[in-house]
Amino acid sequence: MSAPTVVPLIAGEPVHSPAPGAEWWRHAVIYQVYPRSFADGNGDGVGDLPGVTRRLDHLKQLGVDAVWLSPFYRSPQKDAGYDVSDYRDVDPLFGTLEDFDEMLAGAHQRGMRVIVDVVPNHTSDQHVWFQEALAAAPGTPERERYMFRDGRGLAGDEAPNNWQSIFGGPAWTRLAPGEDDGPLGPQWYLHLFDSSQPDLNWENPEVRTEFEDVLRFWLDKGVDGFRIDVAHGMIKAPGLPDWAGKVAMVEGTDPGAPEDGATGAGNNGPMFDQDGVHDIYRAWHQLLAGYDGDRCLVAEAWVEPLSRLANYVRADEMQQAFNFAFLTTPWNAPALRTTVNVSLAAMDEVGAPSTWVLSNHDVVRHASRLGLSAEASAGPLNGIAAHDPQPDEELGLRRARAASLLMLGLPGSAYLYQGEELGLPDHTALPSEVRQDPAFFRTEGAEAGRDGCRVPLPWSADDAGFGFGPTAATWLPQPASYARYAADQQYGVPGSTFEMYRAALEVRHAHELGQGRLAWVEAYADSTDVLAFQVNDVVVVANLGESPVALPAEAEVLVASGPLGSGDGSGVADDGVTLPLDTTVWLRAL
Ligand code: GLC
Repeated sequence: MSAPTVVPLIAGEPVHSPAPGAEWWRHAVIYQVYPRSFADGNGDGVGDLPGVTRRLDHLKQLGVDAVWLSPFYRSPQKDAGYDVSDYRDVDPLFGTLEDFDEMLAGAHQRGMRVIVDVVPNHTSDQHVWFQEALAAAPGTPERERYMFRDGRGLAGDEAPNNWQSIFGGPAWTRLAPGEDDGPLGPQWYLHLFDSSQPDLNWENPEVRTEFEDVLRFWLDKGVDGFRIDVAHGMIKAPGLPDWAGKVAMVEGTDPGAPEDGATGAGNNGPMFDQDGVHDIYRAWHQLLAGYDGDRCLVAEAWVEPLSRLANYVRADEMQQAFNFAFLTTPWNAPALRTTVNVSLAAMDEVGAPSTWVLSNHDVVRHASRLGLSAEASAGPLNGIAAHDPQPDEELGLRRARAASLLMLGLPGSAYLYQGEELGLPDHTALPSEVRQDPAFFRTEGAEAGRDGCRVPLPWSADDAGFGFGPTAATWLPQPASYARYAADQQYGVPGSTFEMYRAALEVRHAHELGQGRLAWVEAYADSTDVLAFQVNDVVVVANLGESPVALPAEAEVLVASGPLGSGDGSGVADDGVTLPLDTTVWLRAL
């Protein structure tokens, strides 16, 4: 291999400057807690709110600014709590409202904000409204809260349209025969997800009033914001026209370097991203503005391209939207550069911060995704089964650390998914008998589903259930390899993934990277292997290529995602430092 040449890391003109505004969410690092898998307080094998409270110091030590909790509301748990039967109560599985208050106070005492999930597109079929709708006749106000329709065909026995559920199978379910059925027989109801998750009718003012009240309930308790589930789904095109397109949430990645940042991960069609949905967010913006502090709304909207996503974070709507284009961009320097540029430009256009996210409870963790071959990672990203091609765990971890360090250097707000700070991979060989994701059942196993990324966290290597709770019980089995990822194996251990994240968050904070200006390093601006940019006084260099990159000898390393090469053996002068492949480094700008 020829000796790599040292090139100066000189940045060009900034392509992004932060929008004015001092609100915390413009640059926050937000940690997603998936309550059932974070920490178990009572030993039943399912994580709970007292478990979260007990582990708040882990988050404090990590250095995150805020916590987002996935749903812990009353729910029959058909979709792990995204099927809510009472929006104003805690499910006994997770504790009580008092446990919530304690957790919230504990987070606030430690200087961390708390965001909770709101699921407005659908309720559980056990919600009192749906039960009332079932008991009522067609055309009644009870039915008007949901999307009931007569069937097609002379006997009404064909679904009202051809929409498919995101979890597989038809998006309509027909009711059992009832006394009040008209000539077309029992009605059908729409469910974009599982049949236990009927879609609400957001054209009905009563639905809007109810959710405004739910928001107030949690705002009054002191939450700092909401993550809005399926934020692009509430309004459907008039007439519910047929649509045969793709509805999958995460289809895969476009391996190219798309000009508009579209990676193929967006939903479209008449059930998504209708312009009318924005009226809801304008109203919610006003509602939040009536409260003190900088409360925020975060959109979970799988829409493309990024210019459409930006509509959700216009000045009078939400504050942030998850950047799934970033999550679904392949590990490829030009593609990532394009996504970063397009993301920043699209959000700058509306004065919103870009967000960055690599993992969540709906996708294969990035430590597993990035360990797949390019071919395998171009398939569905929502689950890996034992019979699928398996990720290379070592490669995945190396790349995941490099990708995370790259992400944390970007200006804007970053989302972490619990366990990624430990470098956790998915459980990629869960037996079918233990799977719980409705997507697995509705596709008859064709899709593995999302259980693999939801496995209970390992806290201590030597305890039963790796210290998830006081007993050995865990609602999903943990792979044996989780012992080496356990938090207690990483605290204070130089080079551990936890310590890398902790150091990165410390530097990010001290150098105000979240509020920074971004400029690409000129020498690598078109590189097919290297991503290099400067934010404030920090230069981030990521090597995605085959050859080591020589770094200026005088460069001060602030954080690195893996061991750096030295003069010996790497082909550069003795005092040279090289950046090996699949490694990211933060340097102090010269
Ligand atoms: C969102 C959630 C996902 C859930 C779905 C239906 O996409 O993130 O977990 O299954 O909405 O509520």
